[in-house]
Amino acid sequence: MIKYVMEIDIVTLFPKMFEGFLAEGVLGRAIKKGLVKVKMHDMRKWAWNSYGAVDDRPFGGGVGMVIRPDVIGQALENLGGKSKRVVALSAKGKRFSQEKAEELSKVKNILLVCGRYEGFDQRILDNMVDEVVSIGDYVLNGGETAAMVLIEAVTRLLPGVLGKDESSREESFSKMEGKRSVEHPQYTRPEEYKGFKVPKVLLSGDHKKIAEWREGKH
Ligand code: 6GU
Repeated sequence: MIKYVMEIDIVTLFPKMFEGFLAEGVLGRAIKKGLVKVKMHDMRKWAWNSYGAVDDRPFGGGVGMVIRPDVIGQALENLGGKSKRVVALSAKGKRFSQEKAEELSKVKNILLVCGRYEGFDQRILDNMVDEVVSIGDYVLNGGETAAMVLIEAVTRLLPGVLGKDESSREESFSKMEGKRSVEHPQYTRPEEYKGFKVPKVLLSGDHKKIAEWREGKH
């Protein structure tokens, strides 16, 4: 029996959007190693009519369609939402951050609900999920790409997901490593490219000086 570190359920109208994302790179490897399990669920399974509709027209009028609460209600009941951290992805949510990623990395079962159209019926956001997350101040066509951002930021914090090099670096810094690693500039070969040079100190072999230089850069 494989014991997963984390299980993630995703409710979406576009499960195929996740295929390449889940197959490649660090996350693909973590899934193959059995550290993370991701289950896709097509929202249309819980459609309210026989045409597969999950949305409906907004009360009070207006453009676009709104995801119905009964559809999401069925999804959550079927997927055991009561015993999972249920996160809706919506531009109306609270801004995602490294701190939120750290918090979610400690949760065993996460259920992500991705919206489309003009968004969710407000009752879903107010009463049916544990939290609503946005990844930034701009509007996307749906929650899927946001869910991928969340999954990537969260799963890379799980034990065994990053390689030995990366994870020892992770441990040597405190909480905000995820930010630290983007803060000092990095250079590699060649030492000079079209007249643009690598800072001399990095070629000096003086580890103390290099550390000081990097500190000064963030
Ligand atoms: Cl989570 N969803 C949508 N549709 N737009 C967004 C977002 C989420 N986060 C930022 N913009």
